[in-house]
Amino acid sequence: MKRYHPVLVSLHWLLAFLVVGGLVAGGFGLANTPNSDPFKLFSLKMHMSIGIAILVLMVGRLLVRLFTKKPPHADIGNALLNKGAAAMHYVLYGVVIAMAASGLAIAKEAGLFDIVFGSSGEALPVDFSHIAPRAAHGVLATALSLTIVAHVLAALYHQYIRKDSLFSRMWFGGR
Ligand code: HEM
Ligand code: HEM
Repeated sequence: MKRYHPVLVSLHWLLAFLVVGGLVAGGFGLANTPNSDPFKLFSLKMHMSIGIAILVLMVGRLLVRLFTKKPPHADIGNALLNKGAAAMHYVLYGVVIAMAASGLAIAKEAGLFDIVFGSSGEALPVDFSHIAPRAAHGVLATALSLTIVAHVLAALYHQYIRKDSLFSRMWFGGR
C-alpha cells in the first residue's frame, strides 16, 4: 500500500485550500470589517457557508479514513518523532473541527443564522466581542495556523531532505 485512497487525497487538497482560505479571509478580511459595514452580511454568509462545508467534509474525511486501507506511517528516522507525527494528524482533525464548532457557537449565540440566512431583517450586534466562543475562535485560528505551518514544514522535510517522496502518498496513482 503506497498511497491514501483517492477520496482521501481529493478531500485532503480540497480541505487544505478551503481551510487556508478560511483562515486568511477570516483573519484579514472578516475580522477587520466592522459589523456596521453593509458588506459584512455577505462576508459572514460566505465565511459561515464555507466553515460549515469544512466541518462536513472534515468529518466525512475522518470516516472515509477509518474505513479505507492506508499506507504504513511515514518514517522520519526517530521513533519519538514518528509517534509525534501520527499524533499531529489527529491534532489537525481536532483543531479544524473545534474551529468550526466554535464558529457555530458564535453564530448560535449571536442569532446569526436568522440574520444572515433568514430574512429576519434584524441588525447585526455592534460586534462579537461579548460572545465567549468568539475568543476561542480567535485562539483556535492561531493554533490551527501554527499547526498547519508545522505540518507543511514536516512534509517539505520528508520530500526534499529525506527524499522519501512523501507527496506521492497524498496523490493519485496505483495503490
Ligand atoms: C491546511 C490544511 C491541512 C490539513 C487540515 C491537513 C491535514 C492532513 C492530515 C490529517 C493528514 C494525515 C492523513 C490522514 O491520515 O488522514 C495529512 C497528510 C499529508 N499532508 Fe496535509 N493538511 C493540510 C495542508 C497540507 C499542505 C498545505 C500540504 C503541503 C504543502 C500538506 C501535505 C501533506 C502530505 C504530503 C501528507 C501525507 C503524509 C503521510 O503520508 O503521512 N498538507 N494532512
Ligand atoms: C474551520 C473552519 C473555520 C475557519 C478556518 C475560520 C476562521 C476564522 C478566522 C481566522 C476568524 C478571525 C479570527 C480572529 O481574527 O480573531 C474568524 C472569525 C469568525 N468566524 Fe470563523 N472560521 C471557521 C468556521 C466558522 C463557522 C462554521 C462559523 C459560523 C457558522 C464561523 C463564524 C465566524 C464569525 C461570526 C467570526 C467573527 C467575525 C468578526 O469578529 O467580525 N466561522 N473565523
